Amino acid sequence: MSINSIFSIADSQFMVEAIQLARRGLYTATPNPCVGCVLVKDEKVVGRGWHVRAGDGHAEVNAIADAGDNAKGATAYISLEPCSFTGKTGACTDVLQAAGIVRVVSAMEDPNPNVSGQGSAILRAAGLDVSEGLMAEQAATLNRGFIKRMQKQLPFVSCKMAMSLDGRSAMASGESQWITSPSARQQVQQLRASSCAIVTGVGTIIHDDPSLNVREQDLSAPVERQPALVIVDSQLKTPLSAKVVSTEMLATRDVYIACVNAASADRVQALEARGVKVMAFSNADENASIVNLSALLSFLAEREMNHVMIESGPTLAGQFVQQCLVDELKLFVAPKLMGGNAMPAFSMPFENMSEAMNLTITDTMAVGPDWLLTCHIKNSDKGLG
Ligand SMILES: NC(=O)c1ccc[n+]([C@@H]2O[C@H](COP(=O)([O-])OP(=O)(O)OC[C@H]3O[C@@H](n4cnc5c(N)ncnc54)[C@H](OP(=O)(O)O)[C@@H]3O)[C@@H](O)[C@H]2O)c1
Repeated sequence: MSINSIFSIADSQFMVEAIQLARRGLYTATPNPCVGCVLVKDEKVVGRGWHVRAGDGHAEVNAIADAGDNAKGATAYISLEPCSFTGKTGACTDVLQAAGIVRVVSAMEDPNPNVSGQGSAILRAAGLDVSEGLMAEQAATLNRGFIKRMQKQLPFVSCKMAMSLDGRSAMASGESQWITSPSARQQVQQLRASSCAIVTGVGTIIHDDPSLNVREQDLSAPVERQPALVIVDSQLKTPLSAKVVSTEMLATRDVYIACVNAASADRVQALEARGVKVMAFSNADENASIVNLSALLSFLAEREMNHVMIESGPTLAGQFVQQCLVDELKLFVAPKLMGGNAMPAFSMPFENMSEAMNLTITDTMAVGPDWLLTCHIKNSDKGLG
């Protein structure tokens, strides 16, 4: 039997709403997944809920509270399988049964090994009508960072680059403000707000002295949490005068600097005294003087970071791409020509066409006068695939 024949049009409409509710947690739910829940009785919505932040009620709990006594006998449409374990809050399987829910439709299985099918199995065993798989793809897209971290112990990696139509990311002098329009920069704010960490290189810190944070006036939404900042800086050259290591900035977010074992102990001490978290990730081979990027990503996943965004210059971005550590490129392309003396978007020392990286463009969107191209690297078995 196909998925479509199990579910009615009404089922699909209610699941669309559950997924829309889940989206409301996009800037806040991490490290948990975004989840939405709609309770329906006699074809009418009687309760709505979504997961706002870790430690607070899950979507099902919030929807049941919203429905009150009307929850009894209702169908729950949930964008993710209900949890079956007691973490910071109770098991949703218990809450759904206690509220008298009779049918559960979930979009996808929870990839968390503590659940992965057990939530549905428990509810089925308790006599509820349980079905799964309605709009699984849409629900999975919303939680691709959480899914990748659960399945591969790595974060989902996006790499943003602002570039001219002739593929340049800064003038030879280092000047790059501004290649793209205010509309594109506003879109970047949304990408930052939904990321757990922004990863940049020391070259960008030295040239631009950026803040790389989320600003309420640019996001057009309240900022509840700042993504952590990770500076890839092998020899700890980040100036102590840089905005990103100022006391004000460190009061609002975690700042990590990734270096190598040989970095100066005095620099480590000076940065740590500021509150910066300095970590060494050395390569074992001839690249021992630069940061091991795979090890850095594993570390970020261990810190429960689901989705990280690289916002660096061409050197670091080129290395992340060349090593196939990027799941998605977000290329903001401005209708400008910056000329051949300007810096490339991705520094990759290729000589032959056979070395060129093949991309698939999965989405194009006009952003003011610019274009946003979303691309995946073809044939990457390290990326999302
Ligand atoms: N158009 C845009 O979207 C955009 C965005 C950001 C910056 N920019 C521009 O980019 C320019 C700076 O470019 P950049 O290439 O010098 O800066 P970058 O890519 O931000 O930083 C590069 C530095 O990262 C360090 N690094 C450590 N481990 C590495 C590894 N495994 N692989 C690669 N790099 C590693 C290296 O310095 P160590 O060896 O000392 O560690 C390297 O020089 C500026 O002009 C800025 O305006 C443009």
